[in-house]
Amino acid sequence: MAGLQNIVLIGFMGTGKSTVGRRLAMALNWEFIDTDLAIESEMGITVSDVFHRYGESRFRTEESRVVKRLSSCQHCVISTGGGTVCNAENFEILLTSGLVICLAASLETILQRVGVGTADRPLLKRSPAEIEKLCQSRQAIYAKAHYTVDTTNQSIEVVVDEILRLLKEGV
Ligand code: S3P
Repeated sequence: MAGLQNIVLIGFMGTGKSTVGRRLAMALNWEFIDTDLAIESEMGITVSDVFHRYGESRFRTEESRVVKRLSSCQHCVISTGGGTVCNAENFEILLTSGLVICLAASLETILQRVGVGTADRPLLKRSPAEIEKLCQSRQAIYAKAHYTVDTTNQSIEVVVDEILRLLKEGV
């Protein structure tokens, strides 16, 4: 693990990236960075407001800017937004900046965790069938991660332990 630069968590909304990332960073004594929070702190408004006021494309521009800056991180756990790696350039940068772990979960779990139509996730203001379609459309992209960990029915502790085990086992 000594030579490992960063750990990057990717995956669909509601798979636990931010919660797990924060705990993992604590366990490793590394810095925790959340791309959505970085955008919020730079723009001074919530992600939801960025979408609402300026549209998704502006959000994606800010997201790419944050990812480029993160490439110089050392010993950071980076939690990304669900759509961050849908931009191929973002994904390339993240794949070379550390170990990329995809967190996955069943659609049922995702819907339970996020609630449908939540105010803070603009892309979830749609029906469960449409959310499933969006999730499906991203599977091939998420599959390019170095590892995938299923968080369905798992506690945060178990998921963090599973990632720590992966790291010990020779990354
Ligand atoms: C998005 C996921 C969100 C946030 C934005 C767009 C997406 O992050 O970046 O609402 O495209 O899947 P979380 O995955 O942390 O909810």
